[in-house]
Amino acid sequence: MSYAVDIIDDVFGGIRPAARALGKPASTIQGWYEAGTIPQKHWQDIIDIARDEFDYHLSPDNFFPAEAPPISAHGYPFQQPHCLSINDYKRPDIDTLLNLGAHYLDLNVQKSPQNSVLAGKTLINLFFENSTRTEKSFELAGKRLGADVISMQVASSSVKKGETLLDTAATLNAMNPDLLVVRHSASGAPALLAQKVGCSVINAGDGMHEHPTQALLDALTLHQAFDGEIGGLRIAICGDITHSRVARSNVALLNMLGAELRLIGPPTLIPMDADRWGVEVFHDMESGLAGCDVVMMLRLQLERMRGAFVPSKREYFHYYGLDRAKLGFAKSGAMVMHPGPMNRGVEISSDVADDPNISLITQQVETGVAMRMAILHALSDAQDRRRGRIS
Ligand code: NCD
Repeated sequence: MSYAVDIIDDVFGGIRPAARALGKPASTIQGWYEAGTIPQKHWQDIIDIARDEFDYHLSPDNFFPAEAPPISAHGYPFQQPHCLSINDYKRPDIDTLLNLGAHYLDLNVQKSPQNSVLAGKTLINLFFENSTRTEKSFELAGKRLGADVISMQVASSSVKKGETLLDTAATLNAMNPDLLVVRHSASGAPALLAQKVGCSVINAGDGMHEHPTQALLDALTLHQAFDGEIGGLRIAICGDITHSRVARSNVALLNMLGAELRLIGPPTLIPMDADRWGVEVFHDMESGLAGCDVVMMLRLQLERMRGAFVPSKREYFHYYGLDRAKLGFAKSGAMVMHPGPMNRGVEISSDVADDPNISLITQQVETGVAMRMAILHALSDAQDRRRGRIS
């Protein structure tokens, strides 16, 4: 039994009475009940109402899970061997990962968030492109789960001496890793590796193709910020869509979760086939942001551009950079996201990015570790089931 079920049943007497006491829709409480977790931002209200109206003395400790429950408690048994593309996943896979991610978000604010879910397993981080947050986030996630973690510095490895991707794969395979996290500038490189190695491969960004773990952490961030209700949110993804693997993974995932999606950017930075992605396309911020609940900004990815896609950074900011004036076109109370790294003053102004009342950017980083713990845990669990170690 989860702590959320205990609190809802024991303190309030069930879902409906809890909804009445807390002034929330029953569907929200039902969501907490099924996920087994309650978003942190509600803990203090629950503690206050439980004390004042039910004479029940809770503390934040009551909101921590005692130990990691089995994956099946978070949804259905996870079967996927890899995490390469959002399109490989179905809705139940996503729901399991979101529930498990919420569990790890709770666990990560405990004094000792470590556990031993991946004890005895080896995680190799193989980054052929630079990364700060993604690589460190996987490293921390693997360590928190008790795995042995190796981060390969590709710049100093044999790859720079001319070894091919597949030679590297064969060498790494001989080390018998259980989980391989790969970032590469070529679209499809992680999928190719997955065919050649015997372990689970996680795509940490391949060229302009996909970045599935970023989309999953963005979905978990929204899940927390909007009380589990992503369906029906109007979300604008703005800027350099053409070169963005984050945009491609987010469009696939947010469409699956029922959000209403818009892409906003200059015609040169919106892919020709975007009208077939299940989104509405806009070329100006004023009409594109109208009525939006969430504004997701993207970096201008100059390193991927062959030629000039924008006249100048200054002009780009004037038309497409998010500042307070343009945010005013969105719904009042709209939240802002950015996967990082940010070009301040190019796609976003500092006063918007750094305002905790409207920006979810810090939460995205925090949620990243929890979501990567969920992904590693789910893949490892599926692996053990395939290897007959658990039923
Ligand atoms: C993104 C990436 O690498 O695709 N960043 C990230 O993973 N945090 C987006 C970007 O580089 O702009």
